[in-house]
Amino acid sequence: MAQTDGPGPQRVVAVLGRGVVPAETPILRADDLGALRGDGIFESVHVRDGRLWLLDEHLARMVRSAARLELDLPPAAALVELAEQALAGWPAGVEGALRIVVTRGGEDGGPVTVFATLTEVGPKQLKGRRDGITVATASLGYPAGARSEAPWLLGGAKTVSYAVNMASQRWATAQGLDDVLWVSSDGWALEAPTANLVWLADGRLWTVPPVITGILAGITTRWLLEHAGELGLGAGERMIRPADLTSADGVWLASSVRGLAEIRTLDGKPLGPSGETARLREFLGFPG
Ligand SMILES: Cc1ncc(COP(=O)(O)O)c(C=O)c1O
Repeated sequence: MAQTDGPGPQRVVAVLGRGVVPAETPILRADDLGALRGDGIFESVHVRDGRLWLLDEHLARMVRSAARLELDLPPAAALVELAEQALAGWPAGVEGALRIVVTRGGEDGGPVTVFATLTEVGPKQLKGRRDGITVATASLGYPAGARSEAPWLLGGAKTVSYAVNMASQRWATAQGLDDVLWVSSDGWALEAPTANLVWLADGRLWTVPPVITGILAGITTRWLLEHAGELGLGAGERMIRPADLTSADGVWLASSVRGLAEIRTLDGKPLGPSGETARLREFLGFPG
């Protein structure tokens, strides 16, 4: 059951092999390498109408992340069962975010730690979806091709090492902005700390190529681009300089829980509004 504090669900916690536990239950040992080293992986899945959106695609990416980190991932069926346990008491009318987390476990080489949490989609995400967002570019410090040539940089893996991602967002917040667009040291737009970049130009939806840049291959963006034809739009991947986004017909950040948030200023320069934002968001199935 969802733990409640006043009206509405708050947070569900489920542990592999145990099912749902009271939300304040301690889950990690003090020597868990996920906590000590950020050594683990996760997925965030959108919960809508009481269902998990694109769960199979998220689990497939989790397999790829686990391979990159040489982590022993439990069988997919066990992860599906865990997700379903977390979801069981969740009200169908409440939009949620399910996290599935797998860490390397205790320092003595014990089994992986596996748990899931389910929370309501936060007000910041909903506001970005509704009103758009203000964004600043920030250097990630290495060239766009660096991660594809350096497997130890874990390009494309969704690891729990998000301290840099969160620091990037705090840096934006400190300037009164909503988010950051990371840029390579050679000047190419990459991704945001928790979202991919999508833009509309020449009748096509574009995103940054994940394979050569080592950014996270987003499930939301891939779904949108694969289905763009149904909206009468083309789709493709290409590199872009942030300055060239100002001439696009729409620029968005896309991710599983946020859905689609239109970038309305980039480094202080106004963008949009795009006439396509509502249509794309609805097509992705996110409420406004
Ligand atoms: C670094 C990063 N890039 C991109 C994304 C978007 O990916 P997805 O659409 O699979 O949520 C996320 C979100 O989880 C992310 O953390």
